[in-house]
Order: sequence, then C-alpha cells, then structure tokens
Amino acid sequence: MSAAQKLRLGILGSGKGSNAATIADACKTGEIPAEVAVVIADVADAGILERARERGLTAKFIAPGKFRTKLDDAAESAYIQTLRDAGVELVVLAGFMRILKGEFLRAFAQRVVNIHPALLPAFPGLEAWKQALEYGVKVTGVTVHYVDQGIDTGPIIAQETVPILQGDTPESLHARIQEAERKVYPRAIGAMARGEVRTLGRQTIWK
Ligand code: GRF
Repeated sequence: MSAAQKLRLGILGSGKGSNAATIADACKTGEIPAEVAVVIADVADAGILERARERGLTAKFIAPGKFRTKLDDAAESAYIQTLRDAGVELVVLAGFMRILKGEFLRAFAQRVVNIHPALLPAFPGLEAWKQALEYGVKVTGVTVHYVDQGIDTGPIIAQETVPILQGDTPESLHARIQEAERKVYPRAIGAMARGEVRTLGRQTIWK
C-alpha cells in the first residue's frame, strides 16, 4: 500500500500511552498499514504525549473543559476540528478517560474504536480487571470494540482471553491484561486498515 493510501489514525488518551506507543510502532514497521496523524490528550502531562513526541508524532493537549467525565461543548468542537484538520479517518481510543457521545460520534460515525480491559459485555466501566477479580471469574481478557452512545456497548471487533491465576492481585492481573492489549489492538487496527473487517449490525466479520 502506498503512503498516499494509508489510513490516517487519530489517537486519544489520558494516561501512560503504552497502547498508543505500540500502535505507532506497528504503523512504523508496516504491521498496521496506517499512519498516526495526531495524538491528543486531555491531561497536559500525560505520558502518551511524551510517547508520541519521542516518536516524532504530532501531539496535542486539548483541555477538556468544565466536566470530569466528558468533554464540554467547546472542547468537543476543538477535538473534532483537530482530528478533521489532521485528516483522521479512524479515531483510536487508548486509555481516554472521557465518554464521547453526541456530536463527536456523529462526526466520526462508525469510526471510533476502543480497547476495554475485560471480555465485554462482562465488566464494562472503570477498573474492569478489578471487577473481574472481585467477582471471581476464572477467565477475563480484552475487547476491541466500536464506540457507540453507551458505555462499552458498541459492536465487538476482537477479543482475547486472559486467565485469572491463583494469587493474582489487581496489579498482576492488570499487567497481563495490558500485555494482551498490546497484541490484540494492533492486530485489530491492522485488519481494519487493510479493509478486512466488515460490520453487519452487531456482528463484525473478518476476512
Ligand atoms: C489500558 O489498560 C486500557 O485498557 C484502558 O486504559 C489503559 C490505558 O493504558 N482503557 P495506556 O495509556 O495505553 O498505557
């Protein structure tokens, strides 16, 4: 695939940026036939911005506005405009700790994906690895899914299981889940970038 045809990704995050770094590196090696057009964080000193800058990527902090769990209207417009200006075709959420809805999802309809640290529809919401451990399940995992108006409810693109081991702590389980994330997210985005994933209602069909 030539550079001109490469899918343009916009990555949004609030934290360390390990998923963003893995995705950017997979774009570099060609495992994902896409390029990272812009990385945006809602936290000024988030590691994800540093991970992006050290890779020579465009990295921007855009203040989220007055709410704690979502973007306010002005911030939402600024996020949409920045992604559009960068020519972004697929928005990749990588630890972005705010709910996106309304205008944002209309602007990028069916073009926002997220990674969730559990096997959805089990354990949506925050600290899903902790929820799984406390519930006592023997197997949890990770889910790549489209983002819709609900919380972690969009069509599932890919999943991978992670066993819960005797003696696991939230930290040890989270570390293994993050390892699985770093495999499954690039794999899913790569398949999407190659046009190998179709959506049929709630089903996604891989070539
Ligand atoms: C990941 O564990 C992901 O499951 C969750 O947020 C975390 C982000 O970590 N949504 P990082 O910023 O990619 O290191």
